[in-house]
Amino acid sequence: MNAIPAPILLMENISVDFDGFFALTNITLSLTPGDLRIVIGPNGAGKSTLCDTIIGRVRPTAGKITFKDKLITDLPEQEIVRLGICRKFQTPGVLPTLTVFENLLVSAQKDRSWWRSFTRSSRVTEILRAEEIMMQIGLQERRDVFAADLAHGEKQWLEIGMVVATDADLLLLDEPTAGMGPQDTQRTAKLILSLLGRHAVLVIDHDMSFVEALNGYVTVLHQGQILKEGSVAEIRADPEVSAVYLGRSDDDHIIET
Ligand SMILES: Nc1ncnc2c1ncn2[C@@H]1O[C@H](COP(=O)(O)OP(=O)(O)O)[C@@H](O)[C@H]1O
Ligand SMILES: [Mg+2]
Repeated sequence: MNAIPAPILLMENISVDFDGFFALTNITLSLTPGDLRIVIGPNGAGKSTLCDTIIGRVRPTAGKITFKDKLITDLPEQEIVRLGICRKFQTPGVLPTLTVFENLLVSAQKDRSWWRSFTRSSRVTEILRAEEIMMQIGLQERRDVFAADLAHGEKQWLEIGMVVATDADLLLLDEPTAGMGPQDTQRTAKLILSLLGRHAVLVIDHDMSFVEALNGYVTVLHQGQILKEGSVAEIRADPEVSAVYLGRSDDDHIIET
């Protein structure tokens, strides 16, 4: 018997109204533990608002959000983070005056209270975890480089590593390939695929080559609504999706046919 696993995240009929402007309308979306969801859509479609709503930064005007069977719709952001959701923003948020390793170690620190410095075993666990993630993001040779001196792609990978180091069960990645060339974009896709299983990942992006490399289930947002959902191949072949993109000169690069 193939039991369908309970979703880790369930958004039901979510709407967000910014003073009369509906940034999201009636969004229903669920994500299985350890699974991947890709959200695409033109600028202004509501993608970042979707992340903001999940993490409690924006309050929905209707609908409910459940995470690990707990209703989180009205919880404060810190509480939602504590329950195991971590978000990476569009611009890298690394600490520039710390090294690659130090950035990871700070993020891996679970207990920040003063007496934690007396618990050596937790410190060792954190160091080992930071080392492990440094390998996973491929920056082991950049271990002692200050984050400020990293290349753009490296900063993005470090920030993904920092999100991973929190050990959150759900990672929200908002445009992790922004400003990257094709090679770095492909490497980012590999990195994200390596996170699945241990983490569920909701990733937002524009770049179709990246979406194809990820090859997961896609939700297409348009004007705050779900326009289409399906495999990458289904989305690519959909005339309505093409029309939404092809009608916009600023997003011409998204679906190249
Ligand atoms: N705090 C806000 N107040 C009013 N309008 C907002 C706010 N945040 C976003 N919007 C509007 O909501 C729409 C969706 O924005 P956003 O979620 O950032 O889109 P995307 O990430 O898909 O580009 C845009 O039209 C944007 O201007
Ligand atoms: Mg956005």
